[in-house]
Amino acid sequence: MTNIRNIVILTGAGISAESGIDTFRSAGGLWEQHRVEDVATPEAFARDPELVLRFYDMRRARIQEVVPNAAHDALARLDASWHGGLLIVTQNVDDLHERAGAKRLLHMHGEHLNAWCLSCDERHRWNGTLIDRPACPTCGTSGQMRPDIVWFGEMPYRMNEIYTALNRADLFVSIGTSGAVYPAAGFVREAREQGVRTLELNLEPSQGSHWFDEARHGPATEVVPGWVDALLRQQSG
Ligand code: APR
Repeated sequence: MTNIRNIVILTGAGISAESGIDTFRSAGGLWEQHRVEDVATPEAFARDPELVLRFYDMRRARIQEVVPNAAHDALARLDASWHGGLLIVTQNVDDLHERAGAKRLLHMHGEHLNAWCLSCDERHRWNGTLIDRPACPTCGTSGQMRPDIVWFGEMPYRMNEIYTALNRADLFVSIGTSGAVYPAAGFVREAREQGVRTLELNLEPSQGSHWFDEARHGPATEVVPGWVDALLRQQSG
């Protein structure tokens, strides 16, 4: 892969699977354990806030029990050493990329460790629970804080930055995502239309696998470090 300067990397639940965080659509995954309509829509939150808050309190506690794996570490290494443009766009709401050291990172679906006050619109770092309806640290209002997660039917964050980076990219890489959810699942076609080279690194072919120029299949902790090391070797010539 020569003449690669600007890279956009999309990550999904598959990159955190080997750290012990359930993916959504694999056998026994989160969406088999819970109905999306019950826990991941604004309507569900209006209908049964306790059920939704308990679900995200459980997930917020879980991510604090696990650690980044070799795939997160490899992307942090790339971030630290890559001379060209790089943007890691994650659909994940865990903080494993940050804990591995990645900086050029964007959470398009929100973050577990943020609480969002619907009264004053402030967001707060939050590693505790919300089921007990705590007061907002800024406005003091109780019971108005929700998980800072983009639910189905809501607009993902920072889409303009993502499309700007895709338009400037030479390479688009998709890691650990099924290609089941838009707009993220559409990035590969957006990239192709811009003449950007595309690569899929995933355990198995994703729903959009046929759109990629190249695909390497296997566990993220194996395929991602191998790809990063080869790229950095090439950069150092
Ligand atoms: N290494 C690499 N890939 C893996 C691994 C692994 N160890 N384990 C699973 N995968 C792959 C699966 O093959 C699958 O293609 O990761 C993908 C996970 O797909 P999903 O569970 O659908 O997760 P994701 O694509 O991130 O979901 C997208 O959907 O539910 C919403 O908002 C939520 O951000 C999420 C979005």
